[in-house]
Amino acid sequence: MADEDLDAVMDLRAAVAGEGRWIGAELPLDEEGDRARIRPGRPGTGAFVAIAEEGTLIANLGIELAPYGVAHLGMCVADGWRGRGVGRALLTEAIDWGRTAGAHKLELQCWPHNDAAHRLYEGMGFVQEGYLRRHYPRNNGELWDAVVMGLVLDEERPGSSLH
Ligand SMILES: CC(C)(COP(=O)(O)OP(=O)(O)OC[C@H]1O[C@@H](n2cnc3c(N)ncnc32)[C@H](O)[C@@H]1OP(=O)(O)O)[C@@H](O)C(=O)NCCC(=O)NCCS
Repeated sequence: MADEDLDAVMDLRAAVAGEGRWIGAELPLDEEGDRARIRPGRPGTGAFVAIAEEGTLIANLGIELAPYGVAHLGMCVADGWRGRGVGRALLTEAIDWGRTAGAHKLELQCWPHNDAAHRLYEGMGFVQEGYLRRHYPRNNGELWDAVVMGLVLDEERPGSSLH
């Protein structure tokens, strides 16, 4: 992602948020906060986009490495471009970024009804690690569950010795 992609990424996020069923963000977006968080080049973050041949930005992925070594990610593919391998390509880049950045694990959350996301993440080796019941308030007054998924990159370091 380059600086000049930021407007298109915000438009994409607004469009996907407007679908009302896939991502955590809802309309209206927190423009100022999102721009500050999503802009490329922020230390400890990776930002990726997919651009179609005609130049349209069709997907983005953001990943942020927490101080404790876990990288958190979120992504969007534009309606009309889904199911064509774009998500898989971006996630492959993000996993590489995580390894290079020294993350021992990647983590994300998705809605239980998001079958495409589950299929993508499980296909890349993520496993369900948690289930958050009635966790996220939505603008329509509902409380949505969320699935926590993780991909461990470091299986070598010992786990806890306190049993
Ligand atoms: C979820 C999302 C990122 C997946 O990206 P994508 O480009 O559509 O997925 P890909 O084409 O790379 O496919 C990846 C895998 O998911 C599967 N898949 C894609 N769409 C699917 C669908 N609607 N139902 C079931 N499986 C689906 C593909 O078959 C593929 O699996 P395979 O490798 O076993 O064949 C994308 O659909 C999206 O952005 N949706 C809206 C926003 C969103 O949900 N973001 C993620 C929030 S957690």
